[in-house]
Amino acid sequence: MRKKIAIFASGSGSNAQRIFEYFKDSEQVEIACIITNNSKAGVIERFRKTNIPVLIINKSILGLDTWHTLIQEVDLIVLAGFLLKIPESFVQKFKNKIINIHPSLLPKYGGENMYGDNVHFAVIANREAESGITIHFVDEGYDTGKVIFQATCTLNELETVDSLKEKIHALEHEHFPQVIAHLLA
Ligand code: GRF
Repeated sequence: MRKKIAIFASGSGSNAQRIFEYFKDSEQVEIACIITNNSKAGVIERFRKTNIPVLIINKSILGLDTWHTLIQEVDLIVLAGFLLKIPESFVQKFKNKIINIHPSLLPKYGGENMYGDNVHFAVIANREAESGITIHFVDEGYDTGKVIFQATCTLNELETVDSLKEKIHALEHEHFPQVIAHLLA
C-alpha cells in the first residue's frame, strides 16, 4: 500500500505542486488530498487539472474529533505555507506525523508573526550573511518542533526580499520532496 500524504497550503502552493510532481508516478507515496483554508489560494488552481481532491476547510474544524478521524487515514501531514496554527488537540493526536517548512534557519526568524515576506525582510534588515530553510516536526508552539533538515543560502550586498524569496523557494523545491520521501521510507 502506498503511503498517503495530505498537503495543507494557504497560498500559492508552489511547494505542493513540486511535491505532487515528485511523487506522481511513485509506487511508494501518493498525495491523498490538498487542504486549504483560503478559497482564493493559488494552490486550488494548481491542482484543478489533477485528480487530487482539494478541500477548502473552515478554521474551526481543525480542532474537531470528526476531522481528526477523517485525516488519520494519512501517514504524513505536510504543511507547505499553511498559515493557521494547528490546534493542540490535533498536534497531540498526530505526534511526529505533521511536518512544516519554514523559510529561515530556525530558531532564527521563527515565531508568531514570522511568515512570508516578514521573514525575509527581517533577515535582510539584520544584514545576515546567510539564510535558508528548515523542515521540522510541528509541536504546540510556533516553529519550535524538532528540526528534521536545514539547507542554507548566502545573501549578497544587494539582496532584496524578492531575490531572497527566490533563493529560498529554489532550496525548498529541491529538498522538501526528498525529505518527505526519506521520512516515509
Ligand atoms: C514557503 O516559503 C514556506 O517556507 C512558507 O510558505 C511559503 C509557501 O510557498 N511556510 P508556496 O505557497 O509553496 O509557494
